[in-house]
Amino acid sequence: MKFYIATDHAGFNIKESVKELVKSMGHEVVDLGTNSNERVDYPDFAHKLSKEVLNDSGSFGILICGTGIGMSLAANKHKGIRAALCHDAYTAQMARAHNDANVLCFGERVVGLGVAESILKAWCETDFEGGRHENRVKKIEIE
Ligand code: RB5
Repeated sequence: MKFYIATDHAGFNIKESVKELVKSMGHEVVDLGTNSNERVDYPDFAHKLSKEVLNDSGSFGILICGTGIGMSLAANKHKGIRAALCHDAYTAQMARAHNDANVLCFGERVVGLGVAESILKAWCETDFEGGRHENRVKKIEIE
């Protein structure tokens, strides 16, 4: 799997560890910043990452801010992005299986590295189930 990752300052501290986790699971990860603890605006990074994911078919995104909320709100403004705010392995598994989510969001101030690892593992090991969920996912988009 190919992942793009971006954070704001409130997600920056966990970013390197998350990148290592993704690589250790055998996946590719492209870092889109931020690159320090200096304050930045999370929508700038959510929009940057969403554009990359939409331009790279089959890729996924990881967005981390303090809570994950702002990142998910901004990413979901992009048609074709299904950003899921996940708090644990179960929500990550369901985000993939039922919602065909393509961007994983979580909060550095909410989950620690251990939970982040279980979230990533569940995300990577779960495929979209399709079937009855196919039409529901299509209905998410409005013209
Ligand atoms: C930054 O303080 C914080 O508001 C941001 O990282 C995020 O949690 C917003 O949703």
